[in-house]
Amino acid sequence: MRVVVASAVLALTVFVSAACGSSAQTPQQVVDARIEAMKKFGGTLKATSQAATPAEAKAKIADAIAFSESIVSRFPKGTGIGDAGVTKTRALQDIWAKPAEFKAAADAMTATLKSIDAALGGDKAAVDAAFAEVGKNCGGCHKPFRGPEVSE
Ligand code: HEC
Repeated sequence: MRVVVASAVLALTVFVSAACGSSAQTPQQVVDARIEAMKKFGGTLKATSQAATPAEAKAKIADAIAFSESIVSRFPKGTGIGDAGVTKTRALQDIWAKPAEFKAAADAMTATLKSIDAALGGDKAAVDAAFAEVGKNCGGCHKPFRGPEVSE
């Protein structure tokens, strides 16, 4: 009887940990996922600027806007340099010490992308002017909130 109970408990434990494991990411997995997404973000913007038609560019900028609006949520507390379980990140603790500034940097990015979206299909000079802001927005967040490169 004892064996039966023990294996029932074991089965339950395995079930519960499998269920939790599928939804909860480790801190490092959160970091890895957002770095991948950031890399894709740069690619999406490049593809937007090189799109053959305004319709194609519109579809791509929509993806970029969705990512930009998700940036803050991709930095939950406990996923920065020095946090438990985080072995490789460039996320500075100032992200959580100055959340209003971090959010403002993300909002500035989103605003620029929306101005690109609004300009698309119209005057080329306006589109170019909006694109010229993009790099400033990347740097405007990386400079205060991203630390030095981490080697493998
Ligand atoms: C609101 C803040 C913010 C904005 C805006 C932002 N980034 Fe980042 N980005 C970060 C942070 C913080 C990291 C470090 C993440 C980590 O290592 O956990 C990062 C990481 C990256 C990485 C991963 C590679 C590396 O060495 O860190 C790339 C690529 C990147 N960003 C590109 C861009 C580009 C291109 C833009 C603009 C189009 C941009 N980012 C805009 C905050 C931002």
